[in-house]
Amino acid sequence: MPSGSEHSSRSARDAVASLRRVGASPEPPTGGRPLVVTADDDLLDDLVRLCAALDREPTVAHDVGAARRWWVRAPVVVAGTDLLEALADAALPRRPGVVAAGRLQAGERTWSTALALGAERVLRLPEDTDDLSDLLATGIEGTGEPGPVVAVLGASGGVGSSTMATALAAVAARDEPVALVDADPLGGGIDLLLGEEDRPGPRWPDLADTQGRLSATALRDVLPRASRLGVLSWDRGPLRQPAPGALDSVLDAARRSHGLVVVDLPRTGPGDEALEHATAVVVVVRADVRGVAAATRLLPGLLERACEPRLVVRRPAGTATDPRLVAETLGLAAVAVVRDDPGLRRAVDEGIGPLARSPRLRRAARDVLDSLDLRVSR
Ligand SMILES: Nc1ncnc2c1ncn2[C@@H]1O[C@H](COP(=O)(O)OP(=O)(O)OP(=O)(O)O)[C@@H](O)[C@H]1O
Ligand SMILES: [Mg+2]
Repeated sequence: MPSGSEHSSRSARDAVASLRRVGASPEPPTGGRPLVVTADDDLLDDLVRLCAALDREPTVAHDVGAARRWWVRAPVVVAGTDLLEALADAALPRRPGVVAAGRLQAGERTWSTALALGAERVLRLPEDTDDLSDLLATGIEGTGEPGPVVAVLGASGGVGSSTMATALAAVAARDEPVALVDADPLGGGIDLLLGEEDRPGPRWPDLADTQGRLSATALRDVLPRASRLGVLSWDRGPLRQPAPGALDSVLDAARRSHGLVVVDLPRTGPGDEALEHATAVVVVVRADVRGVAAATRLLPGLLERACEPRLVVRRPAGTATDPRLVAETLGLAAVAVVRDDPGLRRAVDEGIGPLARSPRLRRAARDVLDSLDLRVSR
């Protein structure tokens, strides 16, 4: 079994370096390039520099004819004010994500032409450089609504919450891109639970210094991925605490590039940052007296945060308490009951993941997902 430091290979580090540049993507597809339309060399220099800072080479059109070819396909268009009139006259198809930019003189009127072209903003350079950079970054990465975040935590230790988080992510990933984020540094690594520990790519220590906005597309590109399921796992090397805000940045980027993000939360620790993002919280409660007592301590804090926790009742072999009684005592409906799957532990030890021989777990995960009403597609 490789250690975390083995995963911190040069390629993982290089990939992570690209992540820190908003908008970065190792190999941008042609259609992913911003379109810059201008015949003004000084303006072109400025715009190319801005795109380079986002790690994207623009497609450059010096006239309307060249612009027409890329007009619809480019994720975002910067129309130089020098060609604004020509573009407006060219009857190009209306499209979102067009901004006009140029070195405008005070009082120069461009709005009516920009409106005729369908531009969303007119930006004056160099004053509005930051705004233009933000618009380019957002345009490149898409402006769709961020995907929902489901946080999963156990009311008591060892109750099966990491297993449930993994099952939710794996079942949802049959339909859409999903990110599974391991937020438990002491859990041994969720990649191990999935049997994905040999898959190269960054683990948490590689992202420990992350701050601020991460590139969503680059995060999606570099995460170890089995089909549609991307995983950011802890490792088994020396513990390296992430910088404050790192989880926040990762979740923000993961939401912008995945249809669903599932976070495996420890009972204590970095929960707050993740709960800020959580669209839903799934609490796994063991169906016995101590399990219910522990949940009684946990739930009020979640309810105070206005997240409506969904209860999953875990009923390990030998527990006799009726799941309905558990839910009734806690005042919440149980969205799923998980009985022991006898083959689960062995399947995990064999490295084939918890779902391989666990039809009950799969059904329970489906029930939980159905109860969450997640509209997702990315
Ligand atoms: N449905 C299940 N059937 C059988 N065994 C299970 C099931 N769910 C979990 N287990 C087993 O229970 C143990 C604990 O599971 P898991 O690590 O998911 O719990 P946890 O709540 O995340 O624990 P921790 O408090 O350490 O984070 C593991 O050995 C796992 O294989
Ligand atoms: Mg766990």
